[in-house]
Amino acid sequence: MRQSVLLLPGDYIGQEIVPEAQKVLARVCELYDLDISTDSALIGGAAYEAEGDPLPASTLEKARAADAILLGAVGGPAFDHLDRDLRPEKGLLRIRSELGLFGNLRPAIMYPQLVDASSLKPELVSGLDILIVRELTGGIYFGQPRGIRTLENGEREGFNTYVYSESEIRRIAKLAFELAAKRGGRVCSVDKANVLEATVLWREVVTELAADYPNVELEHMYVDNAAMQLVRAPKQFDVIVTGNMFGDILSDAAAMLTGSIGMLPSASLNESGQGIYEPCHGSAPDIAGQGKANPLATILSVAMMLRYSLGCPAGADCIEAAVGQVLDQGLRTADIVSRDGVSISTSEMGNAVVAALVKTQ
Ligand code: NAI
Ligand code: MG
Repeated sequence: MRQSVLLLPGDYIGQEIVPEAQKVLARVCELYDLDISTDSALIGGAAYEAEGDPLPASTLEKARAADAILLGAVGGPAFDHLDRDLRPEKGLLRIRSELGLFGNLRPAIMYPQLVDASSLKPELVSGLDILIVRELTGGIYFGQPRGIRTLENGEREGFNTYVYSESEIRRIAKLAFELAAKRGGRVCSVDKANVLEATVLWREVVTELAADYPNVELEHMYVDNAAMQLVRAPKQFDVIVTGNMFGDILSDAAAMLTGSIGMLPSASLNESGQGIYEPCHGSAPDIAGQGKANPLATILSVAMMLRYSLGCPAGADCIEAAVGQVLDQGLRTADIVSRDGVSISTSEMGNAVVAALVKTQ
């Protein structure tokens, strides 16, 4: 069956890292005999420059038709002067909501070769492998009413609404339980049910759903404690499921436990299993155009794409093993190099991963 991948490099280092990931995808297709066509389109500042719109209709149309999308990053100083609606980030927010990408998966995996780069002691993070499942299209980031209003006494007040429907809670929890069933078998649902009514419902619905997954162990945790536990003893977690805002904060904290932002992939999925795969980092304008960017976060995003959208988990394992191998060989881009180490370029890293890909299953 022919499948299609849309490449959206975006801005600054997005244009350097996506081609490296594309090389890796092409090699995996050869090794696993996958029939995957690729096409590319503009998003973000690049799209604004060419068409005056950070998400042109033609890009959205191609995105809807693709089985999966690989995105680099958008934004940067060249576009900071633009109106809010024309900013590159708007293109990203719009494509996520147009495709209904409610499930954001952010793994935090500690590569043994990079333990020294963690902000925590090696014994706390070695072997760390957690997956944060963040609800991405609801909650306080989207709730209505919202705004800034002026009260009768002339004082202004800012307000947002924290709202989740049962069906929104159920679909993100279902995703988390299904992922947990395939890995460590544990889900920790994070809420603030001692203070926020909306999350009392969250807790109820997650608990109900747990009955359908007798092999998955469910635990509930308040978000403040979860933040503390993530930096105290992160290995206690397997899958963490939470709402949009808590997930935004916790996933960034978890990410830093594993060292460089240049290593962190992500997936955002919709109900039909289609997804956008992208590194967690931004467009790194400070190092763009110098061949310094680490392409591994994007390459690892291709692994997630093979696993979650393209039905080739063996190809995903193959990429992850190859990344482990290049790190074993001591190959490092500047962001992960040790003080006395030597660094290699973006494309040298991409080529090294391609060379390390071996079909094992
Ligand atoms: P950033 O993630 O682009 O950069 C933060 C720091 O990490 C920089 O020093 C950068 O050089 C470094 N870095 C990031 N990715 C790297 C990689 N692959 N290899 C080596 N070093 C890497 O975040 P920042 O500086 O806050 O934002 C820059 C631009 O990116 C802004 O316009 C921002 O809006 C945009 N951005 C876009 C995102 C996206 O497209 N999803 C996410 C975050 C920021
Ligand atoms: Mg964030």
